[in-house]
Amino acid sequence: MILIIDFGSQYNQLIARRVREEKVFCRIEPPTLSLEAIRELAPEGIILSGGPASIYEKNSPRCDPGVFALGIPVLGICYGMQFMVDALGGRVTATPRREYGFAELRRIDSRDPLFRGLKAPRTCWMSHGDAIERLPEGFRVTAATANTAAAAVSDRRRRLFGVQFHPEVAHTPQGGLILRNFLFHVCGCRRRWTMKSFVRQAVEEIRRTAGDGRVILGLSGGVDSTVTAVLLHRAIGDRLTCIFVDNGLLREGEAARLKELFDRHLRIRVRFVNAARRFLKALAGVTDPERKRKIIGRVFLEVFESEAGRLRGADFLAQGTLYPDVIESMSAYGGPSSVIKSHHNVGGLPKRMRLRLIEPLRHLFKDEVRRLGRELGLPEELIWRQPFPGPGLGIRVIGEITPRRLEILRAVDRILLEEIKAAGWYRRLWQSFAVLLPVKTVGVMGDARTYESIAAIRAVTSRDAMTADWARLPHAFLARVSNRIINEVRGVNRVVYDISSKPPSTIEWE
Ligand code: XMP
Repeated sequence: MILIIDFGSQYNQLIARRVREEKVFCRIEPPTLSLEAIRELAPEGIILSGGPASIYEKNSPRCDPGVFALGIPVLGICYGMQFMVDALGGRVTATPRREYGFAELRRIDSRDPLFRGLKAPRTCWMSHGDAIERLPEGFRVTAATANTAAAAVSDRRRRLFGVQFHPEVAHTPQGGLILRNFLFHVCGCRRRWTMKSFVRQAVEEIRRTAGDGRVILGLSGGVDSTVTAVLLHRAIGDRLTCIFVDNGLLREGEAARLKELFDRHLRIRVRFVNAARRFLKALAGVTDPERKRKIIGRVFLEVFESEAGRLRGADFLAQGTLYPDVIESMSAYGGPSSVIKSHHNVGGLPKRMRLRLIEPLRHLFKDEVRRLGRELGLPEELIWRQPFPGPGLGIRVIGEITPRRLEILRAVDRILLEEIKAAGWYRRLWQSFAVLLPVKTVGVMGDARTYESIAAIRAVTSRDAMTADWARLPHAFLARVSNRIINEVRGVNRVVYDISSKPPSTIEWE
């Protein structure tokens, strides 16, 4: 296991991804992690990440300098290296020759294990305004660039390494080799991190945590909560209770699909709560998007809490929280904050009900969850399911939410998804869905004038929903979808395609 100490770099998740791609497990932890805790984790190596601060500033983030005396190899990247140098008695200062962008590594110490097998040209990616002025005892410079005399340093005896550049980004073409050298030649890691091994560990850990306790889990129908359910069920069987709240804002056939999957395929019992009327009643007459979200969140909490309250003696609440949310909720300077994001808006629930949290996926990235789902034998259709927002169609029916308008949107959405899947686009898109606008326009059908709603189609590509681009769906495809929607769905006489990217637009319309 590799421990990554997070000094706030925007590339931290990238470091973690690179390590895991080598089938080595890693965790990202804040610099406030105690030496005791680090010892307990017993990592095979430690990577100190980059970060936006300067080491000579007051309050710049630092971890316990004791990490350098544990006998565990350390690789400091950018700020991480500067912290190491500073902590061990060297000196770092602002440099008049800031360096951003591509640079060429020169005067490489070819005996340094980090640079084993490195070939020219040794391009690397730099982004710094500070440089090493004096090295600590025992350190040597192992590479330089035109602007930076100490672009890489090491103390081979203590197995401490530092690089000023970023080996984790694609702009450092041989960065992967450098990281592999650190993992396998310096730390002696082995490629053991597979989903099979994860399942074994996760099941053991859940059993240890849960003991004889009972666990409640809210299902959304998506891949994260389903995978969580399967893992928990393997670990504790029927001491797991899954609750599914139908808020009346689901896509067509969604509740039935979930029922079928859990009843027939997974054989995990689920409590279905049909709360559609309650949600729709609370939403009647509301058009403001923020109010809609709040109402949906509040009613969900009430329904979930009363359902969970019926279970006597529940001790834990499980959630399908993923790693990016966990990392986001830890600040580089403070440590894990109390903010835990939830797809099901149950944020305040654990405290109120005195439930402890179980989050078996909290160290996984989305693509790892998908691989895990496959390892657990979940159907492909579920594994590749596109994300669906908690408030559901409530934020896709723009304006007032009524049963009639929901019905129209469901019909449009079903046609769109049928066509997207038939054309082989489903997996290539991050999300694809329909939106119902609160605007009516004129049309003609047969000999009659119509005055009906507009449906918008949204289809985007994205890696992580932070940025997104509209999908270049073929015109013939769009024509077919539009045709079908207008012909088959009463109440819609115009279809538009959203050609905005995020930013400045968002994925959802709300
Ligand atoms: P935006 O619209 O902000 O959406 O570009 C980014 C991603 O988040 C999803 N989304 C939500 N998910 N509750 C959720 O669980 C919400 O209130 C919510 N709002 C947006 C959206 O579908 C997209 O994947």
